[in-house]
Amino acid sequence: MAKFKRNLVTTALPYANGPVHIGHLAGVYVPADIYVRYLRQKGEEVVFIGGSDEHGVPITIKAQKEGVTPQDIVDRYHNIIKESFKELGISFDIYSRTTSKTHHELSSAFFTKLHEDGKFVEKTTMQFYDEKAEQFLADRYITGKCPHCGNENAYGDQCEACGTTLNATDLINPLSAITGNKPELKETKHWYLPLDQYESWLKEWIIEGHKEWKPNVYGQCKSWLDSGLHPRAVTRDLNWGVPVPLEEAKGKVMYVWFDAPIGYISATKEFTPDWEKYWKDPETRMLHFIGKDNIVFHCIIFPAMLKAEGSYIVPDNVPANEFLNLEGNKISTSKNWAVWLHEYLRDFEDKQDVLRYVLTASAPETKDNDFTWKDFQARNNNELVAIYGNFINRVLVLTDKYFAGIVPERGELTDYDKEVLADIPHIIARVEKNLNTFHFRDGLKECMNLARLGNKYLADTEPWKVIKTDEGRVKTILNICLQIATNLSTLTEPFIPFSAKKLRAFLNIEPIAWDKMGDGVIAVGHQLNKSELLFDKIEDEQIQYQVDKLLATKKSNELENAQATPAKPNITFDDFAKMDIRVGKIVEAEKVAKTKKLMKLTVDTGIDTRTVVSGIAEHYTAEELVGQQVSILVNLEAKMLKGIESQGMILMAENADGVLSFVRPDKEVKTGSEIR
Ligand code: 2FM
Ligand code: ZN
Repeated sequence: MAKFKRNLVTTALPYANGPVHIGHLAGVYVPADIYVRYLRQKGEEVVFIGGSDEHGVPITIKAQKEGVTPQDIVDRYHNIIKESFKELGISFDIYSRTTSKTHHELSSAFFTKLHEDGKFVEKTTMQFYDEKAEQFLADRYITGKCPHCGNENAYGDQCEACGTTLNATDLINPLSAITGNKPELKETKHWYLPLDQYESWLKEWIIEGHKEWKPNVYGQCKSWLDSGLHPRAVTRDLNWGVPVPLEEAKGKVMYVWFDAPIGYISATKEFTPDWEKYWKDPETRMLHFIGKDNIVFHCIIFPAMLKAEGSYIVPDNVPANEFLNLEGNKISTSKNWAVWLHEYLRDFEDKQDVLRYVLTASAPETKDNDFTWKDFQARNNNELVAIYGNFINRVLVLTDKYFAGIVPERGELTDYDKEVLADIPHIIARVEKNLNTFHFRDGLKECMNLARLGNKYLADTEPWKVIKTDEGRVKTILNICLQIATNLSTLTEPFIPFSAKKLRAFLNIEPIAWDKMGDGVIAVGHQLNKSELLFDKIEDEQIQYQVDKLLATKKSNELENAQATPAKPNITFDDFAKMDIRVGKIVEAEKVAKTKKLMKLTVDTGIDTRTVVSGIAEHYTAEELVGQQVSILVNLEAKMLKGIESQGMILMAENADGVLSFVRPDKEVKTGSEIR
């Protein structure tokens, strides 16, 4: 790291069209925060940038659906996101947004510079236009049949059923999502960044110059570069975004992926007047933390933009992660299949570190990974509580009990003591090595290994027994344990900062710089504070509540997606007219003994009063049935059911989940009225 003087760490700007979920956290924000906290502990100069991505079509679609403005949508989610990040301890130096004045000005200036320097190519193409809505249609505003799999609801840029990337013109029978009209093709002019002109520079810079990048990142870049780059449009016909600062481009805005990464620069500018030293001095080390879907934008397109502008540095590394799934399924904002951060913080008060711990321990660093609530509970109860928390608690309680909370001096050391003390710097070095190479899972594992070492040392040396015979020995043991505990309070700070702070309060110490760790971090004679438990067990009920919440989501998604059963073959009107359906009234109801479903109903049909046996007992009680108006097929052949003659049938509507409802007139009509 010596060739750099300072660090600029950015995190993907989340779209402000929904809250953030555990997938965002595990992939981007928790690892970035770990890294930044570590750099700060090392005394490095670092600026940590975040913000909301507030442009783009999904935001306008959501606004339209809700009948509000796009600004309303982004205001709502920007605040939720910003607050929840803060509560989780994501220690941004600034969390900004791309609707800010600074951002609009800076993006405009950036675009203008590229335009004036002749870095764009202009092209006129045919694009879909909705005459009724008087606007060109962005890809997401066009739906139609997928030419590959036949899905009727494919979008103009992608079919979500088969995953194929599409052009809007590929769709069979394209329709405007705004008016439902058939859109027309119309000429429009756009500005393109000729990526092909940057291909050889990109190859040199990445393929030759950054072989150390994570294999998933390097591999994706290589495959893009191998298949050849093409000019990319950086403007759109839309009315939500940063306006294109050209007279001839009235009504057009910058493509969201053009302005969003410039958001990193704008946020830095809002943070400090000295922003240029972070963006233009080659002694700044820039890192982008992102998810795998953002690799091409951060490794190819944004660097090409920066290169085209000419005065900016490019990233030194882009440690992108894969995806986190939830209980075996892909996390989805639109399907509400997610654990939302703001809800987690509400449901698990003061348990920020548990989430940080679990998301790091199962981070999708090299491949997609799965989050399950069972694993969350197990990691808390079996690791944080049983290993780390248990060690700290025992050391602090014993020191308090035997030595009034004063750090005791050491006597002569045994070989075992020496071995344990010698292990401490090795473990610290391994944590450090993992942090330097963005292997946060392994770094965290090593922290837990230090806690394990302490736990084992305590269990092996049994100070609670030795105290009866040899107080001096117990002093040595507890001194060594307190060295371990104090090192842990520093070593775990990047990962689980809330409990690190709590532990420092128990130890009555100030934060310790990273390079000061080792033996002797806590002095003999130092007075400790009273302690409490560092972590609490998470009970089954809490987990069940979360699992039930997901099950309910799954069920409601299934209902929404349930296909209607196919239509039956046609019948003649005469066939239909044969049925005598009437409005009846239930006058008596009684559950049929020894059955689960059957109800014996006495129904006034207007013609007579008769008995009908109906399979509705799981849906209604006898009491609530009496007095209800129903539709009854009166000329159905009588049938014996459980020894009762059923004379007719009550008509019911059945929902996809099997819930039954009566079919009946929407106002009171005379009993016996015919239905036809
Ligand atoms: O994929 C996303 O969620 C984008 N909003 C990320 C933008 S990153 C940056 F370029 F702003
Ligand atoms: Zn398809």
